[in-house]
Amino acid sequence: MGIQNMNLDLKQKYNFKNIVVLTGAGISAESGIKTFRDQNGLWEGHNITDVASPFGFEKNPSLVHEFYNLRREQLFEVSPNPAHLALEKLERNCDSFHLITQNVDDLHERAGSKKIYHMHGELRKIKNIQTGEVKYFEEQVPPKDYILWRPDIVWFGEQVKYMDEIISCTSSCDLFICIGTSNNVYPAAGLVHNAKKNSAVCIELNLEETQLSSLYDHNIYGAASEVVPKIVAQLTV
Ligand code: OAD
Repeated sequence: MGIQNMNLDLKQKYNFKNIVVLTGAGISAESGIKTFRDQNGLWEGHNITDVASPFGFEKNPSLVHEFYNLRREQLFEVSPNPAHLALEKLERNCDSFHLITQNVDDLHERAGSKKIYHMHGELRKIKNIQTGEVKYFEEQVPPKDYILWRPDIVWFGEQVKYMDEIISCTSSCDLFICIGTSNNVYPAAGLVHNAKKNSAVCIELNLEETQLSSLYDHNIYGAASEVVPKIVAQLTV
């Protein structure tokens, strides 16, 4: 379904009590943050396993730190777009709302969203590999500490964060909205199954079909910055 005929009568037909939104790189694309799967397995010119795996960190911690420092600097050049802002409005207007994101940027926070599960970690945090202490990145990690502190990012082969909370909210929601994710990476891609088991209405918003599109009750194709505010308007009238 295109944007033109996307009136789903959401508010009129349903009275949702428990809304869960899952976001991926597509929601931040229009803010200027590149998505992952359109770069031929390279991330800013690097092989993804070199900069996003425990193996890559062990092999070359300074490359990994420099890579994430550049990603952090990029955060200063971007701002939340209307899709991030609309989700903040939805949270303010809902009794029960959970936002799950695969994104490591801070655009949801900067849009004002409060309850966010960053399942793949956060660019703005670093973790002590000995104690597990997590803190906000305030200044560059000095090279002597490069092995002690790592970006608090979930790398390939590692456990995602907040899984208990995420299973609990997706299994009890009555509306599940998935925005701008290719649905290629599990467990995020599989969360729609939890929602469906609870008979939630499931809506996918993306530029194009994904491999899990057929699981959703509604698929709306268009840019997140246009589609998300329209869906939120239907839910908050
Ligand atoms: P992908 O890069 O795999 O997919 C981005 C999705 O966003 C695609 O389906 C695009 O069609 C869609 N898209 C792009 N621009 C859009 C727009 N303006 N409006 C709506 N949709 C748009 O990103 P993710 O699915 O988020 O993990 O990738 C999941 C995980 O894979 C990432 O979190 C990352 C990566 O490995 C880690 O870094 C741990």
